[in-house]
Formats: sequence, structure tokens, C-alpha cells
Amino acid sequence: MSVVAVAHPNIAFIKYWGKVMDDPNKINWALNPSFSMTLDRAQTQTRIRLSDHFEFCLNGNPASEADTKKLLNYLAMLEKELKVEPLERALSIDSKNNFPTAAGIASSASAFAALCLAYLGLRWGEENATAWCKQNLAEFSRLCRLGSGSACRSVAGGYMYWEGSHAVTWQCKLKLFDTVLILSSEKKKVSSRDGHLTASQSPLLAERLQNLPARSRSMMESLKLAENAHGTPQADIAFSEFGRLLEEEALEMHSLTQKAPQPVEYWSDETRKILTALREKSDRNYFFTIDAGPNLHLISMQPVASEVRSLCKEVGVSAEIWEDSTGGPPRFIPDVEI
Ligand code: PMV
Repeated sequence: MSVVAVAHPNIAFIKYWGKVMDDPNKINWALNPSFSMTLDRAQTQTRIRLSDHFEFCLNGNPASEADTKKLLNYLAMLEKELKVEPLERALSIDSKNNFPTAAGIASSASAFAALCLAYLGLRWGEENATAWCKQNLAEFSRLCRLGSGSACRSVAGGYMYWEGSHAVTWQCKLKLFDTVLILSSEKKKVSSRDGHLTASQSPLLAERLQNLPARSRSMMESLKLAENAHGTPQADIAFSEFGRLLEEEALEMHSLTQKAPQPVEYWSDETRKILTALREKSDRNYFFTIDAGPNLHLISMQPVASEVRSLCKEVGVSAEIWEDSTGGPPRFIPDVEI
């Protein structure tokens, strides 16, 4: 018996940055609501099989002790939440990303969404699990959150808004593009837990929490305007306003961390070079956001990869480019070699 589930990562437009620390009843509980878009091309595929011995492979290699511990904790938590007896047989789990691990694409989101769905499929059968997730999206989202906060926004495809225990779908038909500039392929040096800690302790947090609802609202209104006026100059104007807010939000997330009592610097010299070049380019139709790493995500209504490639050349930065766009929900796929 084996199942294979696929889930896509998401890119946050309003960042989950700062969480409740050390309260066992508030695991991965964000200090602020966040808002994101699911990706399409990037995905995690996770296969779970019943086996005679436990096995956990990540991207083709045996997982580290730390990752194995995280996985086993999560599975134990799932059993408890679902009120199911532990399985009598061991699990063999194989999880693979099709995107570069250090791309600055939050792989923990797609990893836990795929793992959670695969586990439900193994326990209940694929059809039942698919129907349950559809009918109980809030609960599915909550279960994914227990693995990694951002995973609760990878449960439905399109756009998702997360507040409190789970995320909900935000309806918008706009297809957006995410051109990821991979400036460094080094693994993140600071864990996301430590990143969230810097945000929770930052002197800038109180003001951020006050300003966020208005920014979030304006961002969603701009996207709605761009959706309704699609194909007209009004859509471009609305999208530029969305982009202004997107960049303001990314810069705020990073200044929170740069000004924390134990500051963390995620940007590299290359990140700064690109940021300077973008600042000088006033006529752009693509806008940046940056997660907990040095790489930039450029969000646009049209594909912009070739333009972005020229920009990198102009400023002498070598970057790998990952092109993505708005994607769909997690699902089961036939058990082929992954
Ligand atoms: O889910 P975590 O703990 O890996 O946190 C993700 C945090 C950011 O990617 C930086 C922002 C976000 O909202 O996805």
C-alpha cells in the first residue's frame, strides 16, 4: 500500500514573520495575518508506503537526524489530532522537491502540505482523504500549520489569507508570475524559528502590527482592481500600487530582523546590487518580495524573465532564474517513480 501526494509552495505577499514562542497550545501561531499566492511549477512530491522498517529520504538522500525527529514529531501530532491509533507497520517516506532547495522558495510549506495529505490518504484512502480535505479545508489547513506555519497556506491553490488557526481561500482569478532570482545556492544559515524570534523581539514590531491591516487591505483591493480591469491601463495602475505595497512589506520584514536585539542579515551583496538597480528603474511592471534568504521573487502580470536576465547582466550579477506562476491545490498522483 502506498500513496503519493503533491503540494505546491506559496510566496507570501504579506509575510508571516514573528510567532508565539514556547506556548505548546499555540504551535506556529503567527503574530499577524498573512497573505500569499500558491506556486504552480514548484512542487514537493511525497510518497508514503507501509514497510517492515522505517525510512525517510529527502531529495534522494537519507534525511538528517534533525529532519527525521521533526517528521516523527509531526506524525505523532497528526495521530493525536486525528484520534487514530498508531500504525502497526513502519513507514517508508520519500519526499522530493523539483525546485532548487536553496531557491528561497519556502520548501517547508509544500513539504508539510504534501506530507499531511499523503498521511491522510494512507489512513483513509485517497478518495476519502480528498473529499475530507475539500469539506474541511480549515481543519486541513490547521493540521498543515502544525508542521510549518506557512504550510497552512498551501492547501487550496490560488491565493490564501491566514489569520489565527488556519488559512482561507481568497478568490481572485488573476494569474500572476513569480520570477525567482536565485543568487545563492547555499543553505539558509538561520533557521526559520530563529528568524521568527528576531521579529518577535524587534522594536519595530508594535508599529508593524498597527500598520499591517491597512496595508493588507489595500494590497487586496489593488489586486481586485487589477483583476476587474484586466487588459486595460487601469489594471497596470492598480498592479503598480500592489507592487509598491509588496516591496514596502518585504523591506519592513527585513528591517524588523536587521534591527532586532540579535540582528540577522539575510541579504547578500548581490541582493543589494539588484535592489539598487530596481530602485533606479522607475518604469518596471514587476515588483520584488524577499523571504528569509538572499533571493528575490519578482511578481508580475506578464512573464518578465528575459528582461530580468538582461538586468542581471547589466549590473554584473550572475543568477539562476526559476519561472513560476499562480498554481493549484495539493492532490494525489499515481504512484510512479518520484
Ligand atoms: O513557515 P515558516 O516557519 O518556514 O516561515 C515562513 C516565513 C516566510 O517565508 C519568511 C514568510 C511567509 O509568510 O511565508
